[in-house]
Amino acid sequence: MKIKKAVLPVAGMGTRFMPATKVVPKELLPIVDKPVIQYLVEEAVMSGIEEIIFVISEGKELIKEHFSPQPKLEAILKERNKYDIAEKLSTIHNMAKFSYVYQDGPLGDGHAILQAETLVGNEAFLVLFGDDIVKHHVPAAKQLIDQFKGESVIAVEQVSMDSISSYGVILPGVKKERLYEVKGMIEKPLEHEAPSDLGVIGKYVCPPGIFEAIKSSLASKEGELRLIDGLVKLGEKENLWAYHIEGERFDTGKAEGLIAANNAFL
Ligand code: G1P
Repeated sequence: MKIKKAVLPVAGMGTRFMPATKVVPKELLPIVDKPVIQYLVEEAVMSGIEEIIFVISEGKELIKEHFSPQPKLEAILKERNKYDIAEKLSTIHNMAKFSYVYQDGPLGDGHAILQAETLVGNEAFLVLFGDDIVKHHVPAAKQLIDQFKGESVIAVEQVSMDSISSYGVILPGVKKERLYEVKGMIEKPLEHEAPSDLGVIGKYVCPPGIFEAIKSSLASKEGELRLIDGLVKLGEKENLWAYHIEGERFDTGKAEGLIAANNAFL
């Protein structure tokens, strides 16, 4: 099924990387010579996505600038015969259509996705969270989209039990190759509560029904609306699927993950 739009919630404050992220959004921190967010946009585009909808917050407009044309800069580079660099810059804003919506306040990733509802409309879409970068010759988003038959597909990977409480964790049902039926999901369980070692990584293909499901899910104890709760709600009506992504994943939301990604992509 053709998926044309991707929603990238990037409104978070990036507190873990402060003061580096006092001014610079954490999504613009580099992996070698490109910001993290550009890897995600390239992943989406290489997976067939035509429109990227960023959910930003006030103060994160530098993300918009990164994906906008910089004609003066490109002209100066060309004057200096640096055509290759000018070309690298112009490909950034030509990759896809870019749209921006705002999230007013830290109200959860589900709430962020709801801000994109009008732009997404009545079609299935991809969601990519800002931290999870996967290195593989088949983009992780394409691996998910290839599995999508109208019901949600969630990216998972095996995670160590001592880090399980950092993830959404699935209770797997029947398995066909790398695709699991999802029988249940728990967000950030304690080790003894975890229904498996299959941790959710921040990539999802969702049918448009997810919007109503998020709205009718209960806010978490922190008062946030979360995508995972919307998915669980949707799971009351239709099947959910999880796909064990192929490739090496880096959690660029943590210093070790960002450094490991830099070493791997160097
Ligand atoms: C989010 C999701 C969680 C998932 C994680 C992966 O949590 O809610 O289910 O495992 O992303 O990166 P966060 O890391 O935003 O707290």
